Amino acid sequence: MNNFHDQLIGDASSIARTAGELILTLSTRERQISYKSSRDMVTEVDQASENYIVSEIHRLYPEHEILAEEGGGSSSHSSPYKWIIDPLDGTTNFVHGFPVFAVSIGIQFEDDLLVAAVYDPNRQELFSAGKGQGAFLNGESISVSQTHDLGKSLLATGFSYFNDDYFKLNMELWASIYGKTQGLRRAGAAAIDLAWLACGRLDGLWEFSLKPWDIAAGALLVTEAGGMVSGPRGEDLDLAVGHIIAANPNIHPHIIKEINLFNHRL
Ligand code: IPD
Ligand code: CA
Ligand code: CA
Repeated sequence: MNNFHDQLIGDASSIARTAGELILTLSTRERQISYKSSRDMVTEVDQASENYIVSEIHRLYPEHEILAEEGGGSSSHSSPYKWIIDPLDGTTNFVHGFPVFAVSIGIQFEDDLLVAAVYDPNRQELFSAGKGQGAFLNGESISVSQTHDLGKSLLATGFSYFNDDYFKLNMELWASIYGKTQGLRRAGAAAIDLAWLACGRLDGLWEFSLKPWDIAAGALLVTEAGGMVSGPRGEDLDLAVGHIIAANPNIHPHIIKEINLFNHRL
């Protein structure tokens, strides 16, 4: 891996960390909430975090593409590098003071995930990865769990704001998988779920209809930590589709099998 990629990991990490600290600083103020839809909120803090991240990328890498959740991106197709940003993943948690939210920054090179940085300001945990270089938590190497049996696993999922088509499947899956595991969690921040899978706190997860910024960084964290990431039939992850199954290599086939017990069109 070349020096430029090391520099990108360092810059993405420090931008994610500073944005996360900004979120905490601004969290003491009264929230100004707007609604993208009845459940999908955005606050001025999401916007402030994104403004900071985008301005830093413009300053450091003015030619790079940016895809950012709150629309601050730019697409000139002049660079093979694309930053994919969720300035505050877990906005509903943030609004309620439920301390599970993060900043998520992924960088692609020609459609391949190259760099990941997820910063959890509540725990001061920085998760980072570079393609072929492993995954790290605050600079220490991390790996997925070795849990072998579904019956010994702790899994997570999430429910999309946008697509009620998947709600029934999620409820069916929850009911069917719950009793076969040691537990299921729905903490409300996909980037945190993926980071916690990468460091072995979870053994697997699934979620349908996510957006590229929810999963770009987290997917690389998981694969660099030795985990598997795919679509619901085991096919390559498609960021544009947003259905993700991620787990340690022992548990991944079990989740795929469970999903495929249901003949849902995915
Ligand atoms: C949401 C979170 C949540 C997931 C939703 C996402 P946001 O992102 O990641 O866990 O279930 O589908 O939209 O809106 O808080 O950035
Ligand atoms: Ca998100
Ligand atoms: Ca967000």
